[in-house]
Amino acid sequence: MSHNLLKGKRGIIFGALDHNSIAWKTAERVYEEGGVFVLSNAPVAMRMGEINKLAEKTGSTVIAADATSVDDLENLISESMKILGGKLDFVLHSIGMSVNVRKGRHYTDQKYEWTQKGTDVSAMSFHKVMQTLYKADAMNEWGSIVALTYMAAQRVFPDYNDMADNKAFLESIARSFGYFFGKDKKVRVNTISQSPTPTTAGTGVKGFDGFISYAERMSPLGNATALDCANYTVTLFSDLTKRVTLQNLYNDGGFSNMGVSDSIMDSITE
Ligand SMILES: NC(=O)c1ccc[n+]([C@@H]2O[C@H](COP(=O)([O-])OP(=O)(O)OC[C@H]3O[C@@H](n4cnc5c(N)ncnc54)[C@H](O)[C@@H]3O)[C@@H](O)[C@H]2O)c1
Repeated sequence: MSHNLLKGKRGIIFGALDHNSIAWKTAERVYEEGGVFVLSNAPVAMRMGEINKLAEKTGSTVIAADATSVDDLENLISESMKILGGKLDFVLHSIGMSVNVRKGRHYTDQKYEWTQKGTDVSAMSFHKVMQTLYKADAMNEWGSIVALTYMAAQRVFPDYNDMADNKAFLESIARSFGYFFGKDKKVRVNTISQSPTPTTAGTGVKGFDGFISYAERMSPLGNATALDCANYTVTLFSDLTKRVTLQNLYNDGGFSNMGVSDSIMDSITE
């Protein structure tokens, strides 16, 4: 269902790897709402070729960029403005990766080169994206920048490993850069804290099945899906949320404010 909420708006969507990706669903919804965009992902992720199907479906161009490389980001942003015909109104940062998680390295036994790589990809890249946009004066006034995060930034989820620290850093960058983007360019910056979602990045976390069913049973509205997240992002890109900024917004069916649910109590008192 379309409401033309993003008609006339231009942007960049990072992180659509395959049809399960939150960024994939977001691109589909932004397209339905009339937005036009460039799709970007790391050169290595392009090899799968899946993103071209999404580009075809949404009439968009794909530009490879490693989000840890400022040179790549400068090229992406200037090319995007040329292709789309002007400054940008929205940017989605939907990027995350931990080498320690991928290789099953425990939080108490991190390999720090891997930790640094994960921090660069998952958090610092958000600063790099925003700094490059800011310096290029690439955002229109009342534009909107969104990054995706998880509640392990606030609470302990042992198997989320160093991604918890990366998400805390990411959320802090959203606030700190959001101040300057708001004051100097009238652009808003927010993070959406999403329920566990079955994607490539999500299912890479140890014990993901338990993780997702626990959250499902704990949340009064159940887990938010990738489509729910896409819809929420559309509202944040639209003019309906013009003065929402510096926020970490929970899209989690109520999970973040729960102590315990009947369902969980029933299962442990059986
Ligand atoms: N899946 C979940 O349970 C969940 C929950 C909360 C938040 N998130 C966050 O949502 C975002 C999107 O993840 P997803 O769940 O859709 O998984 P996904 O695996 O589909 O997306 C992660 C993306 O990051 C990209 N990426 C990795 N390294 C990169 C680099 N150097 N440069 C550019 N892109 C790079 C990958 O290619 C991939 O497209 C991530 O920030 C993730 O942490 C996911």
